[in-house]
Amino acid sequence: MHDLHFYETAKGHGLPHDPFNAIVGPRPIGWISSISAAGALNLAPYSFFNGFNYTPPIVGFASVGEKDSLRNIRATGEFCWNLATEPLAEAMNASSAMVAPEVDEFGLAGLTPLASRLVKPPRVAESPVSFECKLTQIVQLQSAAGELVPTWLILGEVVGVHIAQRLLVNGVYDTAAGQPILRGGGPADYFRIAPEQKFKLRRPG
Ligand SMILES: Cc1cc2nc3c(=O)[nH]c(=O)nc-3n(C[C@H](O)[C@H](O)[C@H](O)COP(=O)(O)O)c2cc1C
Repeated sequence: MHDLHFYETAKGHGLPHDPFNAIVGPRPIGWISSISAAGALNLAPYSFFNGFNYTPPIVGFASVGEKDSLRNIRATGEFCWNLATEPLAEAMNASSAMVAPEVDEFGLAGLTPLASRLVKPPRVAESPVSFECKLTQIVQLQSAAGELVPTWLILGEVVGVHIAQRLLVNGVYDTAAGQPILRGGGPADYFRIAPEQKFKLRRPG
């Protein structure tokens, strides 16, 4: 059928670049705002991000290593998710800088914190869509051998949703109009979404 390259992950991929992130992609970006117990603002992108449930809506992202977002959310139980859009790509990238916990990445990236309605962490004012979230679980990942991995999956219930009116076309959310950016593989690959890439497929039955 196919001429396949196979590798056992424990023995290495044998390729110039690890293909994992390029295969599991493009991924939506969890642009997460949080606030420390002392009140310091924090903002960072996480592409190990997705939605996991409808009712209640639950989103999650993985912190590879113990990072400020994880520490803040563990301490306060709240965070916001903000849509990373093409016009905000540079700012999103700037907010990923490895800086001391007290450095506010909103300021660093030239973004405006906007008060949330139901949680303490502010939203990104420039982003057209935001979720206000309350922590539900923090799950430390483990290997198949049962060894703990220094990665934590942070899950939160979406308790409030803000959507720019212009993205609601006759009440229907227009995904492409939001100009989301998605993360591919390698050090720098991103993808955009265009309306002509959409196709429809209904479930059987
Ligand atoms: C597009 C993008 C996606 C990222 N995805 C992740 C991720 O899924 N998990 C992770 O731990 N770090 C990820 N990072 C790196 C974090 O954003 C970076 O370590 C950041 O400094 C963490 O911030 P914090 O310590 O304020 O939480 C990503 C960076 C970029 C630019």
